[in-house]
Amino acid sequence: MTFNSLNDLYKKKTPRSRSSYNESVKIFPGGISHNIRFFRPYPFFVKKAIGKHLIDIDGNKYVDYWMGHWALILGHSPNVVVKKLDSQIRQGTLYGTVNDISIKLGESISNAIPTSELLRFCTTGSEATMYAIRLARAVTKKRIICKTIGGWHGFNTDLMQSVNYPFEVDEGVGMTGREGDFVESIPFNDLERSIKLLDSVKDDLACIILEPVLGGAGCIPAEIDYLKGLEEYCKRNGILFILDEIVTGFRFNFGSISTSYHLDPDLITLGKIVGGGLPIGVVCGKKEIMQVSNPVENKNKERICYIGGGTFSSNPLTMTAGYATLDYIRKNRKTIYNKINKLGDMARNGLTKIFSDFGLKIQVVGMGSIFLTHFLSNDVKEIKSASDVALCDNAALTRYHFSLMAKHGIFFLPHKMGAISVAHNETDIQNLVNATGKILESNILGTKH
Ligand SMILES: Cc1ncc(COP(=O)(O)O)c(C=O)c1O
Repeated sequence: MTFNSLNDLYKKKTPRSRSSYNESVKIFPGGISHNIRFFRPYPFFVKKAIGKHLIDIDGNKYVDYWMGHWALILGHSPNVVVKKLDSQIRQGTLYGTVNDISIKLGESISNAIPTSELLRFCTTGSEATMYAIRLARAVTKKRIICKTIGGWHGFNTDLMQSVNYPFEVDEGVGMTGREGDFVESIPFNDLERSIKLLDSVKDDLACIILEPVLGGAGCIPAEIDYLKGLEEYCKRNGILFILDEIVTGFRFNFGSISTSYHLDPDLITLGKIVGGGLPIGVVCGKKEIMQVSNPVENKNKERICYIGGGTFSSNPLTMTAGYATLDYIRKNRKTIYNKINKLGDMARNGLTKIFSDFGLKIQVVGMGSIFLTHFLSNDVKEIKSASDVALCDNAALTRYHFSLMAKHGIFFLPHKMGAISVAHNETDIQNLVNATGKILESNILGTKH
């Protein structure tokens, strides 16, 4: 089978999706409402999502490893969440004022994450990171934000720097072009070079914000010494250390990765899992920092740091879904994390073996329940940063994911890391490995072996 015939097979299986996509492009630029949701020839349209499955409008069923942008740790539509939402929806979806359920979710987060002495809910992760850096600037009275090359913190304007390869090129039209004057980008997992760059802007540096595992940029864990080195630099120089845990929060343990790594960040941003499948962003942190945004007790009578939350912040549906999710995980945390972390190891080991059986140079990266296969090239022998990923054979990765989807009913958003949920089991991982073997056997990826 050639890759073209696989494309034809996909088209044959998804005629309704094709016609929906044709409608969709008349309404939305590119036919989508999030850039990464497009893949060629067109994405399938989903009708239903239950447990580990996505079912499209043509009736095709996929074992899903995209899991709602990695948010759905309990799988799609878990009963524990659906039941609570069913009852909450009859009592109101948006009160537009305060509610008790937000206290329960807030307490669950604060009890699990020591850094979270105070928190603010908002509606997306992009908002949470925007507020976090605003707070950092307010507290330090400095302007420059440091992020890592390839780091993704959502679509907020300040942090739209050095996201996509080639990293030094402006991220796009629509910005003033001056945003970069106040952002320093440092190389991920390279402490020595990072510190040199930090030193060059130290006097005006408000914060470092980074992901403990680069998610969008290729599922690359930060080395602990790198994180510790950056934190130590921040503490020594009065700079805020911010962990963006929108992907990693509650993903590997019940709380923040900072606890298991013995880190002491000033602020943490959360999202995804803590919303239980509904929209959320959270900025949480040390009391004295969060208090700078307190509109009620404003002792200095100066302007406070205005961080919002927005119309839909703390809405009772998200609060209900988030609380039901965290409450369930808390009560079953040992079983849940043992299970999904073990499945992650099984996937990494199984895939590494099958690829090496076929003589292909790949690296399956990730940790716990998130993983991704990179196709190494002559230019890159090991994946430690987004720059390494840029030099891989990324077209082969896209073809691999597309083949899994079109031929084997296994869905990774092409090119993106996979996330294992409670709904997955060992058979799913074995099927993934077997399907990979069949794809390699057919040499459909066009990689030589
Ligand atoms: C690490 C990280 N931060 C921030 C965001 C932005 O979150 P949202 O898409 O909810 O705005 C994302 C989204 O994937 C993310 O992975």
